[in-house]
Amino acid sequence: MGASGTIGRAVVNALYEVHEVVSASRRRSALRVDIADPGSIQYLFRTVGKVAAVVCVAGDAPFGELTTLTDADFKLGLTSKLMGQVNLVRVGMEHVTDGGSFTLTSGILARQPMVGSSAISLVNAGLEGFVRAAALEAPRGIRVNIVSPGWVTETLRMLDRDPSTGTPAAIVAQAYVRSIDGTTTGTVIDASGGA
Ligand SMILES: NC(=O)c1ccc[n+]([C@@H]2O[C@H](COP(=O)([O-])OP(=O)(O)OC[C@H]3O[C@@H](n4cnc5c(N)ncnc54)[C@H](OP(=O)(O)O)[C@@H]3O)[C@@H](O)[C@H]2O)c1
Repeated sequence: MGASGTIGRAVVNALYEVHEVVSASRRRSALRVDIADPGSIQYLFRTVGKVAAVVCVAGDAPFGELTTLTDADFKLGLTSKLMGQVNLVRVGMEHVTDGGSFTLTSGILARQPMVGSSAISLVNAGLEGFVRAAALEAPRGIRVNIVSPGWVTETLRMLDRDPSTGTPAAIVAQAYVRSIDGTTTGTVIDASGGA
């Protein structure tokens, strides 16, 4: 999920030579899914069938100062990035093979907030708590991890900010590879400062 995005493209590049990758997003991937819609997630898994790993680098949450964020802003983050990824695990569990894995995405703003990040920090921290608990209950040796990227170099460049403080997407992608190919579970994988 999110295969066409800045981080998602790098994750696909890091995986495709050794794994068969099925890419999905709302508009710009081979398969269509809106993770904010549980029915769309159901449809995706029915279409794809069994998979060994589910990776999500998708989901929206808005920036904005606390006094200006609306109910709709908070709802977007909760419905899209938070419950979208939670529902991927809930719906996807029966479609993942024994010993398979889920790798979700949070972000550094969970533990290093900034002015304007309250809605995003809420969502990212909630996801990290969810993953630690969900891993305890995952059946059949299925692992559940979450990658926490810092600012990505390519994103900073797009935002006209100093890219030298970021981490290249290709380096962030290695954290997803470690989650998929490794043995860790219930882990927040820090991808904010290099591989
Ligand atoms: N880039 C950074 O600096 C950074 C830092 C920390 C954390 N993160 C987190 O990493 C994740 C990915 O970031 P990014 O910069 O790679 O984002 P991006 O470039 O905007 O890409 C987002 C990807 O997710 C897909 N997508 C968005 N909403 C979706 C939905 N509801 N259902 C299905 N697919 C959806 C998009 O494709 P469609 O438009 O086709 O759906 C696209 O493939 C986000 O959760 C972000 O908060 C990013």
